[in-house]
Parts: sequence; structure tokens; C-alpha cells
Amino acid sequence: SASERLRGLRIVVSAGPTYEDIDPVRFIGNRSSGKMGFAVAQSAARLGAQVVLVAGPVSLPTPDGVTRIDVRSAAQMHEAVLAQLPADIYIGAAAVADFAPAQAASNKIKKTAGQDTLNLMLVRTRDILADIASHAQRPRLVVGFAAETDHVEAYARGKLQNKRLDLIAANRVGVSGSGFESDDNTLAVYAADGDSRVLGPAPKTALADDLLELIAARLPA
Ligand code: C5P
Repeated sequence: SASERLRGLRIVVSAGPTYEDIDPVRFIGNRSSGKMGFAVAQSAARLGAQVVLVAGPVSLPTPDGVTRIDVRSAAQMHEAVLAQLPADIYIGAAAVADFAPAQAASNKIKKTAGQDTLNLMLVRTRDILADIASHAQRPRLVVGFAAETDHVEAYARGKLQNKRLDLIAANRVGVSGSGFESDDNTLAVYAADGDSRVLGPAPKTALADDLLELIAARLPA
């Protein structure tokens, strides 16, 4: 059973959005609520795993029995997640910013009379999931998420391959009853060996249990 296989394992989960500061009062964020990742952390802890949850800025209570590390930016999340290695399993459920301001302004940026445009220079963030999956201390199983508005399967399988993941759980965003703010979701889970499974539609808490079943079944010895 999942609890026999996962008991005592070190599982690191990332969840929530990241906020990339523009200046002391503004940031670039996204619509991730953190619910899916928190549900995964909760369900892994219930199965007896030692769970560390690296959380972006969300307003959710810490699941029972979970060690939580709060971060704000993609760079902070990268550092916090890599500091948790070695681990048995990494589940990257966070919606990490792809680009961040090259440097946050130290003072509030002011508009001036007649100014119609403002240029912000953004630079690529480091890919936490890809770095974990190609790390010398790679966990035995590395699981990603993909939130897509279209071409869900093609994009998800592309990420599975490019980031060297074992599993990717994809969901469609921008439709009602799934995705970021919803309590319910549907996940299409693709494996590196070509297998796939659809989980849901169901509450994120039930999907988290089902996803951990799949993870437990695929954990290499
Ligand atoms: O490439 P994309 O951002 O769509 O892939 C989503 C997956 O990659 C998620 O599991 C997310 O947590 C992870 N990711 C990451 N670091 C980034 C960007 C995405 O870990 N900088």
C-alpha cells in the first residue's frame, strides 16, 4: 500500500505562487492558491512520510505533521528547495515565476507627468524542478505539475522530457471548475515510460491521495 511504501521517506513539496518584487510596494505574481500542493503535503504526511513544504506567499494553514518553510521569490524558493537535498521524492507543485525584474528598485517607482509607458527588464529565473531532476543528489522520484490553457498533453509531455521528470500532473487552467482558485481539479498524469492516467474531476484533497498512490506505485526500489 501507499503508506507502507512512503512511511518514513523524506518528501519535499513546493506549493503556491512566487512574488517577484518590482519595488518596495509592487510585485509580479500569479494566480496560484497553493491548494493542490498543500493537499499533496497533507496527504503525504498522513501516509507517514516526513514532509517538508516549501511555500510561496499563500494564506493557507500548515497541514498537520508537515514542516513548512515560507519563501517569497523564485530565487528564494530555489535556494530553500535545493537546501532540502538529499530527499527521496520531490513534488514541484509551485507556480514559479519564469521571469523576474533584473533588480528590485530600492525606492517606489514614480510616474511623471506625460509618461505613457514604463519598461521593466525581466530576466529568466532558474528552473527549480529541472535543477533538482539533474542534480547529483537527484531524488528517486521527481514529479512536476503543468498548468496549461491549451495543448495540455503536448506541453506536459514536452516538460516531462526536457526537465527529465518521472511524472507530470497536468491541468487545464482558464476553465471553470479546475485550476488555480478552485477546490476541485482534474489531473492528467503522464509518466516518462509513456503511461498516462486521468485523475478526477474531484476535490484537490482526493486528487492528492490518488496522486500519492501513483507515486508510491512508481517509486523505484
Ligand atoms: O515550465 P513550466 O513552468 O510550465 O513547468 C511547470 C513545472 O515546473 C512546475 O512543476 C513548476 O513547479 C516547475 N518550475 C520550477 N521552476 C521554475 C519554473 C517552473 O520548478 N523556474
